[in-house]
This record gives sequence, structure tokens and C-alpha cells, in this order.
Amino acid sequence: MKKNYLLTPGPTPLPPEVCEALARPIIHHRTPQFQEILKEAHAGLKEIFQTKNEVFILASSGTGGMEAAVANFLSPQDTVITVEAGKFGERWTEICQAYGINCDVIKVEWGKAADAEEIKSKIQNSKSKIKAVFTTLCETSTGVATDIKAIGEVVKDSGAILVVDAISGLGAIDLKTDEWFCDLVVSGSQKGLMLPPGLAFISVSPKAWKIAESAKCPKYYFDLKEAKKAYEKTDTPWTPAIGLIIALNEAIKLMQKDGLEQIFARHRKMADATRAAMKALSLELFAPTAYSDVVTAVKVPAGIDGEKLVKTMRDTYGVTIAGGQAELKGKVFRIAHMGYIGEFDIITGISCLEKVLAQMGYSFKMGAGVAAAQAVFLKI
Ligand SMILES: Cc1ncc(COP(=O)(O)O)c(C=O)c1O
Repeated sequence: MKKNYLLTPGPTPLPPEVCEALARPIIHHRTPQFQEILKEAHAGLKEIFQTKNEVFILASSGTGGMEAAVANFLSPQDTVITVEAGKFGERWTEICQAYGINCDVIKVEWGKAADAEEIKSKIQNSKSKIKAVFTTLCETSTGVATDIKAIGEVVKDSGAILVVDAISGLGAIDLKTDEWFCDLVVSGSQKGLMLPPGLAFISVSPKAWKIAESAKCPKYYFDLKEAKKAYEKTDTPWTPAIGLIIALNEAIKLMQKDGLEQIFARHRKMADATRAAMKALSLELFAPTAYSDVVTAVKVPAGIDGEKLVKTMRDTYGVTIAGGQAELKGKVFRIAHMGYIGEFDIITGISCLEKVLAQMGYSFKMGAGVAAAQAVFLKI
């Protein structure tokens, strides 16, 4: 028998309440029953996004939400700033370029966080008017968290809209959409929200709606004006992902029971425990100063085959962590501590990591990582 443990930064494990909701018989979406469900989902999402703005639910993975953020608010030949601190920051540039938008790219060394002052100076010194600034709350490829609050302060009076990819991070670490002047916040279902993949979410500020009036990029499925018309009648323009939205309400109820502050504190503790374990194993964090409480990226030690490490943990022992992406392939491994991942999942993950590292010849004191994580968990 092999038991499976999922410690990846999306998808994340599903709580039993969510699994039960996913197993319910389907209902039709143009009914008062579904309208009640949708109303509840809209209200719950506003709480999680910490916003008074509408939060739209799209039937796509998170990238669909990113595409909606570009297509609805910009025109070809517009100039925007994209912050690239990893693979997902690069995705903003790729989507914008696909729509003929000029990107003034801020390249941040992988493992470091974007600097609000650099964004400020880029906005001030750009030859063209900057229409939008594209950022990433948690750069999942490097494990880095971005100071969105500081970026909000520099973007708010610039005329540009602030766009945040919170696909990994929302519902795990703090993001005050309204208080931090975030105009568009995009998220997805398969991370902090403890659902399967298949839903994207996007919140839209009044400032962004104003810009949308003159936006000329083509769109159809992701036309948020259509979504807004439907939203006002508690409806959706196309067939919604009914089952996932029903399950979303169960996930929201679980999150409401804990409260956002408690959720953030839990993520912090699990991240602290993971980081302490890595230190005790003499393993180096990939982002030693800008780390997130969502996912921890760790450098593969010299002499160890990083891809084999991840593969052995998964295929031999059923513990799935993530390897490195793009230029970090084989160089880092990533342990997620997000959503429905608890203390003992982390302990299991660390103990499996120790076992495989020992088998691969890495020299360390067996149990040191587990003991360090337990020490963090034992503190109140
Ligand atoms: C920060 C970030 N942005 C974007 C994405 C892409 O989301 P999806 O794969 O749901 O389209 C991911 C997924 O891993 C992510 O972590």
C-alpha cells in the first residue's frame, strides 16, 4: 500500500467537506437554487479578497484570470510595467505581448523581491504613459513574497492600475485588496482556497472599470463587461463550473470558521517550521530574505540529484513535493504549506525528505529537521 501526501504549491489537498460537495448531484444553473449558491460565493469571495469590489468567478485555471486582466483593461500599443521575479511574473509579459502591448520589464533576480522604489522610478521616467503595473503576490517558482502594500502606495496616484497575480497566496497570506490600492486581483481555486483546479477569480476596482471603457484588446469568453451584466443579476454569462462553485462555498465556510487572521498565522507557523527544519538539515533557502509563508524553495545540496530526490519521494514513498521550474530545474525543491496542509503533513514531508536524502548519501543528523519543525509547532 502506498499512501499519498500532496505538498505541492497547487493543486493542494482537499478537505473532506469539499470532497463531499464535489460528489453531490449536479443542479441546473439558471435556477433560484443556484442563484442562492452564487450569491453566497460572491459574498464569501469579497471577504477573502478583503474588498468591496465585485469578484468574478471564471471557469478556467488561474491563467484565464490573468488573460482577463490584460484583455479587458488595455489596448494594443499601450505600455505597461511587468515585474518579472520568476516564471509567473514572466507570464504577465507573455500575455501582454500576445495582445500587442508594450512591456517595460523590471527584471528581478530570482530569489529576490520586487522593489517598490524601482517601480516608482520606472513609472516616472517612462517615455510612454504607463497604463498598468503587473505584479505577483507570491512568486511560486522561487517562493518569494512581494510587498504589495508598498507597491500600491507608489502606483495609486500614477494613473496606472495595479494588477496582482494572487493565484498562489490568496487565502494564505495577507492581501488587503482595497486598503493596498489593488485594482485587479487574480486568483485560482487550487491553492489557498482548497479546491480542485478549474476556477479563476478576479476582483475589479472602480478605477479599473473606468479604464475598461476605452480598452480595445479583443475578448469574448473573458469579456468582463458581460460578466458584470450577469453578476448584477446574480448570474453568469456562460455555463458556470457549477460543481466547483458549490464546493467553493464549503471551502469558504471552513475559512470563515477560522477567520483570515488565524489562517495567516497558521500559514506562518507552518512556513516557520519548514524553514527551521531546512536550517537544521544544513539546507539553504533559495530566498533567504524574501521568503513567503506559502511555499518554501530550498537549494538542492551539492552532489545530490534534485530531480531524482523529488521523484523518489513521490514514486517510492507517495510524498509529492515540487521540483524547480525553468532555470531552477534540478536546482531547487519546493515544499508547499498552503491551504489544507497541516502540521503533520509538514512533519511527514520533512521526515520523507530526510529518509531520501540519507539514501542519496547526504550527510546530516537523522531527525534533526523533524525535531526543529516540532520545536516550532510546540511554541504557542
Ligand atoms: C503565482 C502563479 N501565477 C499563475 C499561475 C498559473 O495558474 P494556473 O496554472 O492555474 O493557470 C500559478 C500556478 O501555479 C501561480 O502559482
